[in-house]
Amino acid sequence: MNILVTGGAGFIGSNFIIKVLKKNQDKIVNLDLLTYAGNLENLAECEGNSNYRFVKGDIGDSKLVHSIIEEEKIEAIVNFAAESHVDRSIDGPKIFVETNVLGTQNLLQVAKELSVKRFLQVSTDEVYGSLGKDGFFTEQSMIKPNSPYSASKASADHFCRAWYHTFNFPAMITRCSNNYGPYQFPEKLIPLMIANALDDKELPIYGDGKNVRDWLHVDDHCDAIYTVLTDGKPGAVYNIGGNNEMENIQIVELLLEMLGKDKSLIKFVKDRPGHDQRYAIDASLIKQELGWEPSYTFETGIKETVQWYLDNRKWWERVRSGSYQEYYSNMYGSDGRHKTK
Ligand code: NAD
Ligand code: DAU
Repeated sequence: MNILVTGGAGFIGSNFIIKVLKKNQDKIVNLDLLTYAGNLENLAECEGNSNYRFVKGDIGDSKLVHSIIEEEKIEAIVNFAAESHVDRSIDGPKIFVETNVLGTQNLLQVAKELSVKRFLQVSTDEVYGSLGKDGFFTEQSMIKPNSPYSASKASADHFCRAWYHTFNFPAMITRCSNNYGPYQFPEKLIPLMIANALDDKELPIYGDGKNVRDWLHVDDHCDAIYTVLTDGKPGAVYNIGGNNEMENIQIVELLLEMLGKDKSLIKFVKDRPGHDQRYAIDASLIKQELGWEPSYTFETGIKETVQWYLDNRKWWERVRSGSYQEYYSNMYGSDGRHKTK
């Protein structure tokens, strides 16, 4: 397949591209605006692969999206591109509407005009809001977003649904729980806590630390996305989860133990406004219909992940210092052409 991956320089998108290029014969064009969250260093191993091309640009740019789909004979789109951090959406919601809502609507519009055959919107369990002590989110749960981030993702989901129902456009949606693994930007819980602990800095836990998230290794999420992309039903929604609920404080204490650091580094700080209490996913539909289930146990996944951050200290130090942003101009220059091609 010729696949347009958007947001492929981010955490999940880069893991997806690396995996697909290794395992399959698909051709991938990666369209990414390289916001603060986009890091082309993640994809250094793909440079020079004839099945891979990077284009710097905005999913909201209809001319650009149109030309890529036409020139590259794109058959399928996976939309990872988004503003993805809840805390940033509280400080500045507008860009979340521009990228997550208008950007997605633009992709849908152009893809419909050019009759793209498959469209997968990478969404999130956060669109369902928050759970109490019991129960799970199913695909039938009400959409009840609580943060500007989740409201923007929910809105994008509604546009995908509308494109299917109104135009018979083959959009599908996946809604996944919290991912962890290599190349996650160290503003999110797990990489932030690992990096701070290694630097002997305080570990800020919001509120009482008892909020619960369901953790899935990014590699399992990427497998699920590829499965839905190839075999999912047009118009369908699939929940994806790791069957692994943990309180934030449990995660942080575990990381400190694995890194041989003292619990005194933990600092309880002011809670996130509107902080969702608990997420938990019922992923039985994707298992029954498409045969997907997670392959990682949390025990193995977190061990590998901690080791990755230990082995790749340079990567996250460059992210924290901002020097990762030089990669694009060094590799592609001001005209956007790859220097070695
Ligand atoms: P990320 O923030 O690491 O990456 C987002 C990428 O999108 C970056 O490379 C960024 O440069 C790019 N981007 C932003 N605006 C763009 C624009 N206008 N045009 C083109 N590219 C743009 O995010 P992530 O954690 O990899 O998440 C990827 C997707 O998966 C998001 O849609 C997110 O909502 C969803 N998701 C994430 C998780 C998670 O735990 N991280 C879980 C479920 C769903
Ligand atoms: O559930 C899927 C979602 O998971 C994705 O859609 C989002 O893109 C992704 O960012 C993630 O959202 P969360 O808000 O759950 O992730 P985050 O890593 O920001 O926070 C995880 C939990 O840890 C949450 O309860 C808030 C808490 N937290 C987070 C940070 C960054 C802290 O206590 N301290 C922190 O410094």
